[in-house]
Amino acid sequence: MKTLVIGPGGREHALVRALAQDSSVSEVHAAPGNAGIAQDAPCHPVDAQDPQAVTALARELGAELVVVGPEAPLAAGVADALREAGFLVYGPSKAAAELEASKAFAKEVMAAGEVPTAMARVASTEEEARDALEAFGAPHVVKDDGLAAGKGVVVTDDLEEALAHARSCFEAGGKVVIEEFLDGPEVSLFAVCDGERAVPLEPAQDFKRIFDGDSGPNTGGMGAYSPLPWAPEGLVEEIMERVVEPTLRVMAERGTPFVGTLFCGLALTSRGLRVIEFNVRFGDPETQAVLSRLRSPLGVLLRRAAEGRLSEQSPLEWAPSYAVDVVMAAGNYPDSPRKGDPIEGIEAAEARGASVLHAGTAEKDGRTVTSGGRVLAVVAQGKTLAEARDNAYAGVDEIRWEGEQHRTDIARKAIDGEISVAGPIGFRGDHPGDREGASPSGEAGL
Ligand code: AMP
Ligand code: GLY
Repeated sequence: MKTLVIGPGGREHALVRALAQDSSVSEVHAAPGNAGIAQDAPCHPVDAQDPQAVTALARELGAELVVVGPEAPLAAGVADALREAGFLVYGPSKAAAELEASKAFAKEVMAAGEVPTAMARVASTEEEARDALEAFGAPHVVKDDGLAAGKGVVVTDDLEEALAHARSCFEAGGKVVIEEFLDGPEVSLFAVCDGERAVPLEPAQDFKRIFDGDSGPNTGGMGAYSPLPWAPEGLVEEIMERVVEPTLRVMAERGTPFVGTLFCGLALTSRGLRVIEFNVRFGDPETQAVLSRLRSPLGVLLRRAAEGRLSEQSPLEWAPSYAVDVVMAAGNYPDSPRKGDPIEGIEAAEARGASVLHAGTAEKDGRTVTSGGRVLAVVAQGKTLAEARDNAYAGVDEIRWEGEQHRTDIARKAIDGEISVAGPIGFRGDHPGDREGASPSGEAGL
């Protein structure tokens, strides 16, 4: 199976490597890829967000499966154009990608499916925003309604700061979603969906803030680990039953069935699990950790999803290990990252057993240089989470460039036993009482 991966980042590098290990995959190509992906697969300089250009490339290559990585091409209708041209595609239609592209749309679908999520209101004016912020109280959560690469959310105790973020979204012509604050640890779960059915991958946890101790602004994600040693038993089953399956049902009923990765960003709150957000693609940097442990062939899985044949999929097999990845970011990320700084030490990191996946890199005068905010993800496994973390940081220690920044506390709290789940979460057997934790989400109502 000739496979084409669309996208430029670390997630796509992880997808390319995992697909290359599947014996049913004869060739993997990437577009546009990046300097690291180019070492593993031919890269084609195509604008990932241009449906015609991507379709023309798929035709030229004779691609038998196209995997669309990031949200922007999906929201731009790249999967639709490919399907119309007769290609098998893993990734949702533009209409189904609204689950990520519009937070207000996602709330509507969750309300229809009674999926537990934060209470929310949409605001288009400063007055509406102030009313909603006062109604929910602090901490305040204000989200840009549209795509913002993980950086459109402000969580603050300061009402004026919350209002200022809302104002900047209005000035850019958008609206905001204002939510109640959700406490408790966060989980990222990816469900591979074929429009009707879904197969979950192992859950992961991401680190959204730029600095140690979850301080500083939100980023696309600074590191991840998987699986979660502290996860309540039955967590994945509960997410499938209460979140993924009803969402797939509602999307199919609306005539926009969801094919691709439904990424559930969840908070395990003191009142039960709540969806923080949906994304319509694999998460970055969670994918780098999650896929490093997948033993089942990824190409076969994604092809079955694209063909609507997940009923034929046997349970996934995973390495009996933990995986940690640490993102190394450019100086001044997430504001306006420095570019063009030469990177040293990638080979030394790999010699120590880590695998280095590229996100924002480019080749300049025969050297690998920084070319984006998140530059590399250093991934390693271990028999324990602590060992995986030590191995990942041993890799990170080998790599440097001017202005480089990374968090030093990825997976630390999990290892130190500092993560606890207070709410009634996880189906434990068939006791109906276990399912009553979260109030039914009439409360998802806008
Ligand atoms: P999102 O783009 O919706 O995933 O939000 C980015 C990050 O902001 C999440 O991963 C959370 O850490 C935080 N966040 C979003 N919504 C809430 C909420 N309602 N309560 C608390 N934190 C939130
Ligand atoms: N790591 C979160 C995301 O991919 O949006």
